[in-house]
Amino acid sequence: MNYLRIQGPTKLSGTVTISGAKNAALPLITLTLLGHNPITMSNVPEVADIKTLLKLLSNLGASYTLENHVLKIDTSTVNNTMANYDIVKTMRASILVLGPLLARFGHCEVSLPGGCAIGQRPIDLHLKAMEAMGATITIHAGYVHAVAPKGLKGAHIIFDKITVTGTANVVMAAALAHGKSVLVNCAKEPEVVQLCEILRNSGIDITGIGTSELTIVGTGGKTIDMVDFEVIPDRIEAGTYMCAAAITDSIVTLERVRPDHLDAVTAKLEQMGCRVECSENTMTVYPATELKHVNIVTQEYPAFPTDMQAQFMALAIRAKGASTIDERLFENRFMHVSELQRLGANIKLSGHVATVIGPCELAGADVMATDLRASSALVLAAMAAEGTTNVHRIYHLDRGYENLEEKLRTLGAQIERLQE
Ligand code: UD1
Repeated sequence: MNYLRIQGPTKLSGTVTISGAKNAALPLITLTLLGHNPITMSNVPEVADIKTLLKLLSNLGASYTLENHVLKIDTSTVNNTMANYDIVKTMRASILVLGPLLARFGHCEVSLPGGCAIGQRPIDLHLKAMEAMGATITIHAGYVHAVAPKGLKGAHIIFDKITVTGTANVVMAAALAHGKSVLVNCAKEPEVVQLCEILRNSGIDITGIGTSELTIVGTGGKTIDMVDFEVIPDRIEAGTYMCAAAITDSIVTLERVRPDHLDAVTAKLEQMGCRVECSENTMTVYPATELKHVNIVTQEYPAFPTDMQAQFMALAIRAKGASTIDERLFENRFMHVSELQRLGANIKLSGHVATVIGPCELAGADVMATDLRASSALVLAAMAAEGTTNVHRIYHLDRGYENLEEKLRTLGAQIERLQE
């Protein structure tokens, strides 16, 4: 197993190029199951989660090449509708094949994703929506069996809770259903917006894009002539580098970024005393004279993203005063707290609220990554800590950050990947 060795404290400078968004590329790859033509996607991040999903599509019968961030994929040859446990267990987002497979083939068998380090993460809302569209769902031997022999039919669906992959799954199912679907209380994340825009550009009648209510007229089972497209920049990767600038007291410029997708993150950095300058697709972060404490509540987009919570907790350790972080989306997303405490952080947990008392001097130690974003928080804290930090179990990081250590090294960090 690999681990990262980081020597702190570090100063960064220069420019970092932001990769394509993993969480946009994942549903977009499953979207290709609705197309009948070869499709070219550019700006695809070459991270472990993407490779896992491509392996799943290949198992289903698709062919693809991924070179220099360009994915060429042809799903016209797909003839298998079973998403195996072996792949699904490693990545929950595999559930995104459910809607497209069911809509195209009238049946599919998808392994239940099972538990997850950051909480329960059920898929009941995905399944309820498919049932409302006429599917019969049974759960047997760890698999979701979904059947709709005459195809799915349009439905009026009100999501009980806002769900990102749930919205994406149902949008894809509705695009090939018979008749009109009205989806209420949808996720408005930029990744969902891009999925809808590509469907619209590919000829699907879809309105309400970017709002919480989407209306989609399905093709009645016919596959789509899909357009080629470029994946939007990764706002979470970008936000992580913004925090890297702030925690190391450095000026860093981000290239190929969408500043408008980062408004909530920028606002919190500014409250902490940093300055952020934006152009159309670059952002430069200037450090605070003295970092101020902050109060954060994680919520659905456009509010502050849960995927940036751990990184801001690392930053809050260096800020003056008591910061609070209220995690509203996932019940168990504070596993990084005990690891940050190993580095010297003063954090108190009470239910879903963490209080971080700063500023604290951090000292390098051995720490363990527990999930994707928690891992990047440890890297950030390590860059501010005095001495050597070893971050273990970095396969979590590799799931979603492309060339993290190379990008940080180019900015001036002392970071290397070693073998246990
Ligand atoms: C997506 C993102 C993840 C991010 C999360 C919240 C991807 C691949 N992953 O995850 O990085 O942290 O959004 O922004 O895009 N829920 C239910 N029943 C369901 C579905 C969800 O109760 O059927 C609950 C979840 O437990 C959670 C909340 O709804 O409490 C939001 O989850 P959801 O938006 O579905 O997260 P993901 O799509 O899995």
